[in-house]
Amino acid sequence: MSTINEIEDLRRLARKRVPRMFYEYADSGSWTESTYRANEREFGRILLRQRVAVDIGQRSLRTRMLGQDVAMPVAMAPTGLAGMQHADGEILAARAAKAFGVPFTLSTVSICSIEDVAEATGGHPFWFQLYVMRDRAFVERLMDRARAAGCPALVLTLDLQISGQRHKDLRNGLSAPPRLTLRNLLDMAGKPRWCMGMLGTRRRTFGNIVGHVQGVENMTSLAEWSSQQYDPTLSWEDVAWIRRRWPGKLVLKGIQDVEDARLALGCGADALIVSNHGGRQLDGAPASIRALPRIADAVGKHIEVHMDGGVRSGQDVLKAVALGARGVYIGRSMLYGLGAMGEAGVLKALQIIHKELDLTMAFCGRTDINRVDRGILLAGESRDSTANAEHAGHAEHAEHHAAQAG
Ligand code: FNR
Repeated sequence: MSTINEIEDLRRLARKRVPRMFYEYADSGSWTESTYRANEREFGRILLRQRVAVDIGQRSLRTRMLGQDVAMPVAMAPTGLAGMQHADGEILAARAAKAFGVPFTLSTVSICSIEDVAEATGGHPFWFQLYVMRDRAFVERLMDRARAAGCPALVLTLDLQISGQRHKDLRNGLSAPPRLTLRNLLDMAGKPRWCMGMLGTRRRTFGNIVGHVQGVENMTSLAEWSSQQYDPTLSWEDVAWIRRRWPGKLVLKGIQDVEDARLALGCGADALIVSNHGGRQLDGAPASIRALPRIADAVGKHIEVHMDGGVRSGQDVLKAVALGARGVYIGRSMLYGLGAMGEAGVLKALQIIHKELDLTMAFCGRTDINRVDRGILLAGESRDSTANAEHAGHAEHAEHHAAQAG
């Protein structure tokens, strides 16, 4: 196996090892995939200021997210079907997160259940992501189960009242477990590691749902139930209801607009995540990193602002922190690690990002992630990009303040 030096190496290996249906489920966005691509691309347009002859001998990336100590400002994004990228995927990713000292978020539509992950990680706290289903009694039971498992934070996803269409999933006939068509069998035959893993586990369908909803015992009934369950009527009243009912930290995920950020603040949430669901919902929405600064400016003093979308390197993490994010989440960077090498692959993804973040911060002449601000961003150069003109303005503004503060 060739050496793994960057997230792209993990992605390539995952593509070789994971059946196409599940690899493409991760590596895809809705419709034209323009927002999916923009999430990555816009990071590349932001330029960093190199500083020299600054003492960078002692450096720290340690910080806090939702009051929790973290090894770096990076958490695992909730991703559905992670247990199909690799057998027992959510358990393996949660273990890697625990070992590294960053938060793991379990999706409602995971393969391993809340209870499975809690047991396998020895009660180490993880966060739980909630989709509001029409069946509110099921939603209440999910919250109770997350609480019983010791989850300190609930990540409530607000941008999936309806589903964006991903052409690849339709073409591949995505399902968990996969249907045993000739095409799927031929594809899986070329992925022996994945097959061996799957043969060795009993977890092959939605662990939080099957057996927990009356009448949902098999794939057919599950498909029928879930196709009708995402709730298009979800409103801020429901958010307020969940706030009242959930005693722990509440994080609102999927905020792209300043007005919605203010509403999130008004609901008493502890944090919000600037996110476009990794480009899987509204195709044409701006890249998350472009939406971030305005939201951070509007509400960042009162509520923790997190972001996700397109983070593939430590440089990306640093830019997001500079633009006002207290922390970021990684979706695909984690999934590629998982598909490539299971737990070791997720650990590798975290190590890669940590090292890149550490060195990049140092090149910018900074030694403490908690003191990184817009002053590390370079004004000018790519003024042709709207995103950068915006950032350049902020950077100049930050520098001006820094000068005033001495
Ligand atoms: C997701 N995402 C997601 N979000 C959520 O709240 N619940 C979920 O079940 C899922 N499922 C899911 C599956 C897959 C395969 C992907 C790629 C993403 C969105 C996820 O939490 C996050 O917002 C994005 O993944 C961030 O973008 P990057 O890091 O993947 O570019």
